[in-house]
Amino acid sequence: MQQPWDSSNYGRHGRFVAELAGSLIDDLKPQSGEAILDLGCGDGFLSGRIAEAGARVVGVDTSPDMIAAARARGLDARMVSAESLAFYEEFDAVFSNAALHWMPDQRVVLAGVWRALKPGGRFVAECGGHGNIAAIRIALLAVLGGRGFARERIECNWFFSVGEYRAMLESHGFVVEHIALLPRPTSLPSGMRNWLEIFRRGLLAELPSEDREAALDEMVALLKPVLCDREGHWSADYVRLRFRARRP
Ligand code: BEZ
Repeated sequence: MQQPWDSSNYGRHGRFVAELAGSLIDDLKPQSGEAILDLGCGDGFLSGRIAEAGARVVGVDTSPDMIAAARARGLDARMVSAESLAFYEEFDAVFSNAALHWMPDQRVVLAGVWRALKPGGRFVAECGGHGNIAAIRIALLAVLGGRGFARERIECNWFFSVGEYRAMLESHGFVVEHIALLPRPTSLPSGMRNWLEIFRRGLLAELPSEDREAALDEMVALLKPVLCDREGHWSADYVRLRFRARRP
C-alpha cells in the first residue's frame, strides 16, 4: 500500500528532510539552462531551489497532495511514478532526495533514470541507507507487529548498503563516481510522535482512534531512552546513502 502524504503536515513538521539535503544540491551543481528531473519531488521545496539556479526542472511524484503543493510553487510537477518514467535522453541530470527508499522496484527505477538521462548525464541522489532509523523500526515492529500488522507492511522502505546499491547502479551501466553511507542523527523539533504520525500515517490510520493513541504512546515510550536526551530533545537515527553516478 502506498504511504498517503499530507503536504501541509509534511511542510510543517517534515521540512527538515529537505533542509538537511541542502548540500546534495551542491553535489548536483545545477547549471543555468540544464534540464533536471527531480524524482520523488514531494512538495517541490528542493525542485524550487534547483530552479533558482536557472535549470528547467520537471518534478515527478505519486502523491496528488504533494503534486498540488509543488504546482502551487509554480513548478512543472507531474503525477508520474518513478517506476514508469517515459522520458528519453531529455535530462542533463536526475536528482532525488529522501524518495528512493519508498520505491519498491529499484531496478525498474534505475532503468527509467538511465533512459531519461542524456549520455554523459548524472544521477545525484540521497536516500535512507543500511541501518537507517534502526531504533524506530524496532519500536514499530514491536508495537504494530504486536497488533497484527505484517512485517513487510511495517518495513515498507528499502535501505541499501553501499555495496548493494553500487552493484545495482553498475549493472544498469552507470559509472559510480561517489557513494557513501553517512550517519546523520537528525533533530526532530516537533518530536517523535509527529514523525511517526507523518511517516507511518497509512498504517496508523488503520487502527481505531483510541488504539492509535495508545500505539503512539507505546512507541514514544520505547524510543524515549535512546532517541530523547535528558533535556527533552528528540532525534531520529538517520543514516543516508548518498551517491553520484553517470550515464557514460
Ligand atoms: C528517511 O528519510 O530516511 C525516512 C523517512 C521516513 C520513513 C523512512 C525513512
